[in-house]
Amino acid sequence: MISNTMDNFGIFLPAQDANALSKVKQAIDDVVAQRVAGVDLVTVAVMEAVAKVKLTVGNGDFAPAFAGSLLSKYAQTPADFESAICLLKMDQSANPFSAQLAGYLERHGSLMPTTRVFSATGPYDAWEKTGFYQAHMNGIVNNVAAFAQRTAPKTKQPVIIDVGPATGVLLARILNRLVDDHDLEAINLVLIDISTAMLEGASAYCLEHVSVPLQITTIECHIEDIKPEQLAQIESNKPIWFAHASASLHHMPHTQKQKAMETLGGLTDHLLITEFDANNDLPEANTPELFYSVVGLYGYFFDDICKSPATEVEKRASIDDFLLSEAVIIIRSEHRFGSSEELGRIDYHAHRDVWIEAAKHTGWTVYRAETSVVVPDGGRAVTFFLDIGKMPINGELYT
Ligand SMILES: C[S@@+](CC[C@H](N)C(=O)[O-])C[C@H]1O[C@@H](n2cnc3c(N)ncnc32)[C@H](O)[C@@H]1O
Repeated sequence: MISNTMDNFGIFLPAQDANALSKVKQAIDDVVAQRVAGVDLVTVAVMEAVAKVKLTVGNGDFAPAFAGSLLSKYAQTPADFESAICLLKMDQSANPFSAQLAGYLERHGSLMPTTRVFSATGPYDAWEKTGFYQAHMNGIVNNVAAFAQRTAPKTKQPVIIDVGPATGVLLARILNRLVDDHDLEAINLVLIDISTAMLEGASAYCLEHVSVPLQITTIECHIEDIKPEQLAQIESNKPIWFAHASASLHHMPHTQKQKAMETLGGLTDHLLITEFDANNDLPEANTPELFYSVVGLYGYFFDDICKSPATEVEKRASIDDFLLSEAVIIIRSEHRFGSSEELGRIDYHAHRDVWIEAAKHTGWTVYRAETSVVVPDGGRAVTFFLDIGKMPINGELYT
């Protein structure tokens, strides 16, 4: 059971707020069910429900964001979209999610992702320049280095798996740190990713930027659905020092995460995971709880991108073609688990405690579980790091 503390602010909606917001959802469900062509989707009933919640609950400011996002999902005509935009613009909170979604709807005229996320590395450029990403990289490099101090490589030419390397910028930094700390002579790298563009981009970047020779094997697959012949290809490289998966295992629902963790457990005794603390996996579709977590996490990213030194073009690509496209797919999803027919929902961020349970359930021992990046100004955890292994060393270190 996860408690609703200040640490979880922006992740879990208190039950009484969720109850109050369900009245907004009901008003929207009613208007959508009785939809009459040409009649405004924002009825008096919807506005009254939003106004009431705004005044009565702690997270009342979230009401227009919730109502506007949910309505944009059902919008069909330009007038419907105008109504949704109008509601989003009523959001007076400091969270920029509503403003970005309103701008997105104005620019694109629909709640569809602009592109297939991860089909190109370009939209990553602005994100890599954000305060978050810089802290994310530094935190991971230090955490992986701390793991490697405890579990040093048995050879100067170790094998390492990276799941979801994207551009390879973070991975190259990790590898160079390990080379320096352990005098490595070469690295045998196994890259697993769903995207041809990412595998090519990460391979090229690492070959150019890592200071020792690399032998790279690329495996193009969803890690949760890896084929036996692909597994056999990786297994031929055993023993594998460790597998690293940063911000890649949240791209599947809970049961698939467990499957991926089990698969990796068959390949190596050590798995290092960095993930986002959020609640986008377990809540049902269309609920205030799901939208609250989506608005909290993505709103933070948008704020961070807007403040970054990236160019305006890079910022727009990072928001529209990457992060907001992800959020739009979550909002559009009709099922908790999505499906490949249904726009291929790809984001299922979960709370740290849920990941820890999944690790234990799949036979891993949790050695370390640490917050890695915290939202500034008294905010909550954004990411956490898990160092999990197959051998109970002195019992579990994390309790
Ligand atoms: C958000 S990026 C993370 C990149 C990098 N590891 C980091 O921490 O910044 C996610 C990466 O995981 C890949 N990915 C998404 N779903 C995946 C899956 N089911 N199996 C393997 N890789 C996946 C994406 O193509 C992308 O390269």
